[in-house]
Amino acid sequence: MCPAGPAAAGESATAQWYRHFGTVDAPASSPCYAEWAVGMADDAELIRRIDLWPHNKRQPLLILAAARFLGAQISPYRDFRRFLDDHWAKISEIVLSRSTQTNEAGRCATLLPSLAQIAAAEGRPLALIEVGASAGLALYPDCYGYEFVAALPAEGNADGAPTTRLDPRGARPGTFPVLRCVTSGPVPLPAALPQVAWRAGIDLNPLDVRNPDDVAWLEALVWPEQEFRRERLREAIAVARERPPLLVAGDLNEQLVELADQAPADAALVVFHSAVMPYLDAGGRARFRRTMADLASERGCHWLSNEGHTVLAQADGSNVVPEMDNARLRGRFLLLHDGEPVAIAGPHGQSLEWL
Ligand SMILES: C[S@@+](CC[C@H](N)C(=O)[O-])C[C@H]1O[C@@H](n2cnc3c(N)ncnc32)[C@H](O)[C@@H]1O
Repeated sequence: MCPAGPAAAGESATAQWYRHFGTVDAPASSPCYAEWAVGMADDAELIRRIDLWPHNKRQPLLILAAARFLGAQISPYRDFRRFLDDHWAKISEIVLSRSTQTNEAGRCATLLPSLAQIAAAEGRPLALIEVGASAGLALYPDCYGYEFVAALPAEGNADGAPTTRLDPRGARPGTFPVLRCVTSGPVPLPAALPQVAWRAGIDLNPLDVRNPDDVAWLEALVWPEQEFRRERLREAIAVARERPPLLVAGDLNEQLVELADQAPADAALVVFHSAVMPYLDAGGRARFRRTMADLASERGCHWLSNEGHTVLAQADGSNVVPEMDNARLRGRFLLLHDGEPVAIAGPHGQSLEWL
């Protein structure tokens, strides 16, 4: 379905971006996006139009989500191209006014073992701050269910794999999403979910789980074939609607210290983030790292970073895990606890390999 191939000679940077997305990023998760993105890369007139937008608005996922938001269905590229033409003014409007703010509750499975370790070590409930929180769905790790399934050797039968099931206290089955995560290595799975006493987030543009337009945008950001993620999103939104999160609008570097001051002093403060560092430039990341160091020394604050390894660097600019083979990390996130690598994680929380 996807005519993967080398970049055409003299191809523009935008066309190369779409071709890379269509041949490398998308095929495993969405054959539809793979076909559309390669079709767009080959479509000089469309690339010309996309190039009229500011650089940060040209990313493949943004126009694809805008089209899905307007109702584009899985279809061959020629039909999708007609859809783009028929809706171009509206698509431009959405691209220019929205950004990629995918909110993946599944990432709570990646964070949970570390959060439980912190709560156990501190002997008190947690106060959570997520920077780059989108709609704040990762702020409810205590309100979701979990199924941690131990990976078996390649020839093993996954049906027989040992599974650890954790459910939120007092919640009726069917009222929360159950996050499935395949584990390997000595993942420190807790016996029960940690307690969360307080939760808050910061985002440049917080999305509101009570606003139908924002919810539709969150759904449009999930790739077409990933119905299980859309279902999980709806379940997580239902949980968040019951007690909408405190979300502060603004730059994480401007808002974090003030928000941390509001956290209850008798809870263990944890600042965490997933898939946010690509949005910051090197100066912004360095400033954030300094703030985290200050919060650690002044407040005993813990820091969990769940990000693609290419956007992480030590304070001296060196790689955060020099001993680790890049191929092992490609397409996955690295989980750092107070700056130390502890695990390699599936980007949507689907796997956790403890180091
Ligand atoms: C890809 S989304 C990830 C959302 C959430 N962390 C998750 O894992 O589901 C990245 C979010 O970071 C936010 N963001 C980017 N730069 C930011 C900044 N400087 N300050 C606050 N939020 C920011 C974006 O608005 C967006 O909602």
